Amino acid sequence: MKLERIHNKFTEIWHSLEKKSPKPLLARKLIVVDYKKFEEQVFHGSFQTRKKIAQSLYKGDVYLLKKALNKKFCEKLIKGAWKINKKEKKGFYKIKENCPNFHRLIDYKITKKYSSNHIKHAFYFFPWNKDPINMYKKIYKKWRLFKFLGGFKAKQYEENTPKDGIIDRFQIVHYPAGAGWLETHNDPWHNQRVIISGFLSERNKDYKTGGFYYYKKNKKILDCDYQIQTGDMLTSYATVLHGVSQIDSSNKINYNSSKGRWFLGLYSNDSDHIKKRKTTMSWGKKFLTPELPIVNNKLKLLDISK
Ligand SMILES: [Fe+2]
Repeated sequence: MKLERIHNKFTEIWHSLEKKSPKPLLARKLIVVDYKKFEEQVFHGSFQTRKKIAQSLYKGDVYLLKKALNKKFCEKLIKGAWKINKKEKKGFYKIKENCPNFHRLIDYKITKKYSSNHIKHAFYFFPWNKDPINMYKKIYKKWRLFKFLGGFKAKQYEENTPKDGIIDRFQIVHYPAGAGWLETHNDPWHNQRVIISGFLSERNKDYKTGGFYYYKKNKKILDCDYQIQTGDMLTSYATVLHGVSQIDSSNKINYNSSKGRWFLGLYSNDSDHIKKRKTTMSWGKKFLTPELPIVNNKLKLLDISK
């Protein structure tokens, strides 16, 4: 039977969990598993296996899914985005009907327009537009797993356009060395429940310091980049607090260089046709961004006043 026709048991599992206890805010532990194995469990596992996965995510566990994307494909995404940066002007568009693909450098000034402080160069792509990097098909194959896991149809929203209220947005992100970071926040869960990260670069190869983190109990930090390699993907319940520690803070920023950390973000957003659009919620003042990696067990918090 085709996946999109299968009754998704995750939907009822989530409803029962969400009725019983509040949504998770803090991470519990990092679970490292091969993408292939996880995919098998999500799509074809028994009811008990699925329930276990959902329960664990709802307790705040973070799943690092190894070898999800081919390394050549990751390179192609970076090269493709960088070519767009060279060829096409930066811009910004609200997600309304016929919104084009665009890219935007969110620097110290522009970040003030957003709900969370961050510095990044984001390349946005929408499924109703051309696919300049030839990536939609390959990425959708992965994306469907997370939609299904979140209790939605595997192909939910794929045909939507902004007037439908919820749309799929592909994002390739460059966190430039010497500047890129994202303060502690959580994400809306109503359209997808689990967040989806794809890692296109890795610490100690492409950058030395910084990376993806979660907040655990007692203000402890889960430093994910210890285990992340290019091609891995990651998921957690959307309300668990996370962020990106500044990449190579000691470097001098050069926005014309592609050095730094690259990431693939997949999100089903409310479009700008929705009046009270739900977006990211900042927790950055209470949960400061740490410097990573943590050296000699000493947690240093990032000074972003510079
Ligand atoms: Fe996020």
